[in-house]
Amino acid sequence: MSTQFTGPRSVEWKETYIHILNQQKLPGVTEYLELTTKEDVFDAIVTLKVRGAPAIGITAAFGLALAAKDIEAADVSEFREKLAPIKDYLSSSRPTAVNLFWALERLSCSIQYATSVNEAKTNLVHEAIQIQVEDEEMCRMIGQNALQLFKKGDQIMTICNAGSIATSRYGTALAPFYLAKQKDLGLHIYACETRPVLQGSRLTAWELMQGGIDVTLITDSMAAHTMKEKHISAVIVGADRIATNGDTANKIGTYGLAILAQAFQIPFFVAAPLSTFDLQVESGDDIPIEERDPEEVRQISGVRTAPADVHVFNPAFDITPHSLISGIITEKGILTGSYTEEIEQLFAESHVN
Ligand code: MRU
Repeated sequence: MSTQFTGPRSVEWKETYIHILNQQKLPGVTEYLELTTKEDVFDAIVTLKVRGAPAIGITAAFGLALAAKDIEAADVSEFREKLAPIKDYLSSSRPTAVNLFWALERLSCSIQYATSVNEAKTNLVHEAIQIQVEDEEMCRMIGQNALQLFKKGDQIMTICNAGSIATSRYGTALAPFYLAKQKDLGLHIYACETRPVLQGSRLTAWELMQGGIDVTLITDSMAAHTMKEKHISAVIVGADRIATNGDTANKIGTYGLAILAQAFQIPFFVAAPLSTFDLQVESGDDIPIEERDPEEVRQISGVRTAPADVHVFNPAFDITPHSLISGIITEKGILTGSYTEEIEQLFAESHVN
């Protein structure tokens, strides 16, 4: 099987700048931006120019490596002192996706044994590149592992964008669709539009169409009717943070889909790399949920759709309890229900986090 994949890259390291696909402008405009400062990187993450848990982690890692190049320090210990506030600053860009903190921590660890400032700067760049390289392989493996769950002609529902542009390549929840296309398995995907900022309609529909994958767009309110009328055989979503009991934070609306899936007795799958598990968090109750600007709800793509001063509640994520999750698909295999034990074993075997 060919593993050639030619989908768009969301983030690229260019030595003096970070090249990103501006996801805020899609699908109308395909624009690339050059991030040259830590403030550019912070802004790109906050304003969703780059988004999706793994892509946020990769961009922040490149951002730290880039900003570190300008640090002037007499020795490594002074270098570390000057790096710490930049790491804290980038960490404060978004609170929910754990990949952000995980990637920045990996960079910090990479300079633990550096003996010169130059060595430390080089290590940071190498580690950030390594994170991106590993993410691509992890996503490909997630896709590979997920394929066994589907059969030719299945109609599968997703929400948000857990695709190639949310990761290094392939995506998590969307990875099996790229691999299925290579194998001519003919999976069909129903993408929920994902209000308020429409990652489903703007990004997932665009990305899958670019890849020649069969996608049908629905509004979020059409999910129940579509499950029934179109004989949806599974739901697959990405994740921003997974607690050690399997509770999963993902884009707002995911929890509702999981409840519907249970009502229709449809399997509900989460696809995520090990970098999305938070071993410090025992349950979803302890995952911080980002609340975003009320204007995202009062407007659609800049057009006012609600009274300007109406009260708004705008959580960007929700928590799906592990009891509603039929399986968590990782690069190491599929977890199937005894999540606390399976996650413990997975990390004991993998020696990560
Ligand atoms: O607010 P976003 O667009 O960053 O939210 C993204 C999601 O919820 C994705 O499903 C998740 O990060 C997984 S991306 C592989």
